[in-house]
Amino acid sequence: MKRNILVTGGAGFIGSHVVRRLVNAYPDYLVVNLDKLTYAGNLANLKEVENRPNYRFVKGDICDRELLRDLFARHAIDGVIHLAAESHVDRSIHDPLTFARTNVMGTLALLEAAHEAWNGAWEGKRFHHVSTDEVYGALGFDGTLFTERTRYDPHSPYSASKASSDHFVRAFHDTYGLPTVVTNCSNNYGPYQFPEKLIPLFINNIRHGRPLPVYGKGENVRDWLYVEDHARALDLVFHEGHTGETYNIGGFNEWRNIDLIRVLVRTVDRLLGREEGASDGLITYVTDRAGHDLRYAIDSRKLKDELGWEPSLQFEEGIEKTVKWYLENQAWMDEITSGDYESYYERMYANR
Ligand code: NAD
Ligand code: DAU
Repeated sequence: MKRNILVTGGAGFIGSHVVRRLVNAYPDYLVVNLDKLTYAGNLANLKEVENRPNYRFVKGDICDRELLRDLFARHAIDGVIHLAAESHVDRSIHDPLTFARTNVMGTLALLEAAHEAWNGAWEGKRFHHVSTDEVYGALGFDGTLFTERTRYDPHSPYSASKASSDHFVRAFHDTYGLPTVVTNCSNNYGPYQFPEKLIPLFINNIRHGRPLPVYGKGENVRDWLYVEDHARALDLVFHEGHTGETYNIGGFNEWRNIDLIRVLVRTVDRLLGREEGASDGLITYVTDRAGHDLRYAIDSRKLKDELGWEPSLQFEEGIEKTVKWYLENQAWMDEITSGDYESYYERMYANR
């Protein structure tokens, strides 16, 4: 079957893996990537597919309703995979309005555009909203997991904006019948992640002998999933998920930050041929993130039971691949950590 899919945020970290996967796996589809190219959007992430006949890039804002109307009509869009967002918790603490604008109003503009374009002809249509486990709030150390029925309890401006967007998506399903699916995923890692996030930031800092700023005591727990496993889950849910449903996606792979950081230090040092423990002294405890959620952990059994998805990579293998990728792609890293980005980092660190 031919399909015309609008992917939003396809020049970002996860979006670029989704676009690459769709363009490679479905030569008969047209994949239209709408991205504003904020600081986090990078077309270098998509070099592999940029000249493919089944791929189009459109630079634009998901809040631009005229542009959305035009894209739906011009490309006869029948599916949306919506990833565009402001995604970094620390930034949301300093600039919540930008998060409300893109994550809430942008999602609403996209929902309205799909509703208007499809206008009740729902057959063969799908609006897939990509969300986060952070909407569920924080867990204690009691072994419980977030399920699809866990009550929403967001704490950061980022997670509050994502929670709000999830509610709008469900409201469009319940009110107008828009054929939606929502996925809520845990922390992703892998190639092409912007180096403001823990794993790429720390790999780069270890390489250059810079301090590793561990928030608080480093005891917070995250559930890590290799990004290509997330992209595979999104492909599956987009095509086979049940309309109106929510699916949690996670790695069953919980790590305390400090333990994960020690793995990163050991792996980078080993791959660079340094002595074991050479970079241990870079670990620096700094003031905690405001409202720092203690623990996230996803129960993804519904996705396994209904659609047969499971993570494919063991964490040790995924981390090895990831560290190697960043070390071998220093030019990619240097390009985005030069100029304006450098001063952004300096500002952030000066405030800690
Ligand atoms: P990212 O910050 O790397 O990429 C976001 C992309 O969206 C960028 O290319 C950016 O240019 C684009 N964008 C931002 N505002 C836009 C706007 N107004 N209009 C059009 N494009 C815009 O983010 P990511 O980590 O790849 O996350 C993608 C999605 O997945 C987000 O919705 C995020 O909430 C969700 N998510 C992320 C993770 C994670 O661990 N990174 C986990 C679960 C869910
Ligand atoms: O859980 C899914 C979420 O994972 C996504 O929705 C978000 O878009 C994504 O950014 C990520 O959020 P986190 O806040 O968990 O990721 P981050 O990489 O920023 O931080 C991971 C953990 O490491 C967190 O407990 C904070 C800590 N940390 C982070 C940075 C950047 C540090 O200790 N030091 C740091 O410098």
